[in-house]
Amino acid sequence: MNSSALRFVRQVGVRRRHCVTTFSAHSNTTFANQFNRRAIGAAYSSLSRESSEGKSVIITGSSQGIGKAIALRLAADGYNVCVNDLSKKQAQCDEVAKEIRSMGRKACTAVADVTKQDEVKRMIETSVRELGPLNTMIANAGIVEVREVLEVSEQDFRRMLDINVLGVHNCLSEAAKQLINQGDCDPTAQWAVRGLVEVYAMSLAKHNITANTYAPGIIGTEMWETIDAGFSKISDMERGTVMATVARSMSALGRPGTAEDVAKMVSFLASSDSDYITGQSQLVDGGIVYT
Ligand SMILES: NC(=O)c1ccc[n+]([C@@H]2O[C@H](COP(=O)([O-])OP(=O)(O)OC[C@H]3O[C@@H](n4cnc5c(N)ncnc54)[C@H](O)[C@@H]3O)[C@@H](O)[C@H]2O)c1
Repeated sequence: MNSSALRFVRQVGVRRRHCVTTFSAHSNTTFANQFNRRAIGAAYSSLSRESSEGKSVIITGSSQGIGKAIALRLAADGYNVCVNDLSKKQAQCDEVAKEIRSMGRKACTAVADVTKQDEVKRMIETSVRELGPLNTMIANAGIVEVREVLEVSEQDFRRMLDINVLGVHNCLSEAAKQLINQGDCDPTAQWAVRGLVEVYAMSLAKHNITANTYAPGIIGTEMWETIDAGFSKISDMERGTVMATVARSMSALGRPGTAEDVAKMVSFLASSDSDYITGQSQLVDGGIVYT
């Protein structure tokens, strides 16, 4: 399953000169060295990543797993972060928000069920009230069902579609309305979830909003406990061995990835470095699918 990220990046053409800060740390270098480094740094500064300092992002399902890793990584990149999950995970959300504040960023919790449009609206209102105008939406919340296809009930099927598809649409559409209302879309914004993402990419391009998907492969999070329990029932794989066995047999790298591996890709998608990328699906799978 894919996950979605919406981004809104200011394209005002002014790039921070990271080199100045970097070079000031080299107090033991000679003046000539510093001068040369500054000159080289100035020449290449447009190649370095624009800072995300002060921008704001909402990440759904970020009390744990990949969402939490994205929240911490984007905070390290400079983002202020709105942490979301279901109300039963409020305490875990608050812990993540606390950790982000300890990194010197602003953070808030906005519990909401992404399948409910009115809750998604309120989540965005909370984020804007606490953190200021929205720049990026990462529709990361999702679930997995592991059972034989003939055993999937109508109720199971609806639940999966509600969270993994309707939930993404709710987040992306409400965030897009917010971005357009903010009226400062000379920037670019960006998202993700295959299929939906292409529609969003095409229809939002006129607002300078871009949309992309990140598609994790086998990533070691709590989700794999559910997959492990399910697969060990319907296959001959032993309980506790499923993730490693599947990763070994399916991926070129032969091992599962970490939530941080995905967060690094999302950091790129949430930055100005991906300004000219839209409607794409970015795989983070250790070599399972080749595009
Ligand atoms: N872990 C993997 O190997 C893997 C592989 C492919 C895709 N993914 C996708 O990446 C995303 C994150 O996965 P993860 O491994 O961190 O899973 P996870 O189960 O650890 O975390 C998912 C989070 O989403 C939250 N959530 C579920 N339904 C929600 C709802 N209706 N509203 C708000 N929050 C809700 C859960 O409470 C949970 O905290 C998911 O969309 C998942 O499908 C994961």
